Amino acid sequence: MVKADLQELTRSPTAVLGASGGIGQPLSLLLKACPLVDELALYDVVNTPGVTADLSHISSVAKISGYLPKDDGLKHALTGTDIVVIPAGIPRKPGMTRDDLFKINAGIVRDLVEGIAKHCPKAFVLIISNPVNSTVPIAAEVLKAAGVFDAKRLFGVTTLDVVRAETFTQKYTGQKNPAHTKIPVIGGHSGETIVPIFSKASPSFTIPDDKYDDLIKRVQFGGDEVVQAKDGAGSATLSMAYAGYRFAESVIKAAKGEKGIIEPTFIYLPGVVGGEEIAEATGVQFFSTPVELGPNGAEKAINILDGITDKESRLLEACKAGLQGNILKGVDFIKSPV
Ligand code: NAI
Repeated sequence: MVKADLQELTRSPTAVLGASGGIGQPLSLLLKACPLVDELALYDVVNTPGVTADLSHISSVAKISGYLPKDDGLKHALTGTDIVVIPAGIPRKPGMTRDDLFKINAGIVRDLVEGIAKHCPKAFVLIISNPVNSTVPIAAEVLKAAGVFDAKRLFGVTTLDVVRAETFTQKYTGQKNPAHTKIPVIGGHSGETIVPIFSKASPSFTIPDDKYDDLIKRVQFGGDEVVQAKDGAGSATLSMAYAGYRFAESVIKAAKGEKGIIEPTFIYLPGVVGGEEIAEATGVQFFSTPVELGPNGAEKAINILDGITDKESRLLEACKAGLQGNILKGVDFIKSPV
């Protein structure tokens, strides 16, 4: 069977939870326009009828439906869904860290993932809601408690860090299209837990010594530039929608049988082939690392830690210190709620 036939015959119903938000709307637009998505369910606590009506006029493949919490909306949005993308929650304002979002977003993610455990336990779950370093462990604990956890199917979306690294290094890579340089960004998804591994970029490129620290800081804290520029109106939405779509598209393509798709993503290491070795090397159980995607999700975690530079090793040490606390905070939120 040729690939085009395979793509047409395989369904990929997708749901967006938090679809009316700053990220949710452009992300839903991109998914609606994607020929690989045949059904798109939008869920939010507000405005989904309007967003759905608007997007429904687009002449693309996806059949679209929208739901509010009333009348079992979450159940209807999730039933029969294979891919769930979650950008629900509050975004940062100037002066806030991603960790400051924890109190509100932790409860939102917990409740939505409880719905997933009930109504589509085998779906691929892509978490955008911050702090990703904690919301992904929360999701894992909820799915474990429901007896349906499969680490291969749970992803923290860290693609925006990769996209920023590609963009900010363009003057050194010399690529006309910055996305043509593959740059692994590993660790977590906030400040110093974000670790760009420029030494493993492909094709390789050189950063002048005196520019290295600034470049690392810019990738780690690039989100702050947007938060400040928006001056109280939120954090990255359009670039995040692009990044979230890029990752979702990779998951869908791999699920449909396309080979060789590798994306960095924040996963539960012990549950993915190759992950144990990375967990041993880093001392953390959740970590973003390049992952080979396939029909079952995260088929293989790829260890790129061997041979990294001394500077990168130091960045990794700082990452581990912060990341471990973020992970435990998420796990404790479910295991020992106060
Ligand atoms: P937003 O406030 O514009 O949109 C959030 C949406 O979630 C709203 O429409 C709201 O009604 C909805 N919502 C709230 N509670 C809900 C619930 N219980 N069920 C369903 N929907 C619910 O925020 P924005 O800018 O779209 O950001 C969303 C999240 O994404 C934030 O946590 C933000 O920090 C995070 N984010 C993550 C990034 C990443 O790289 N992973 C990058 C940028 C933002």
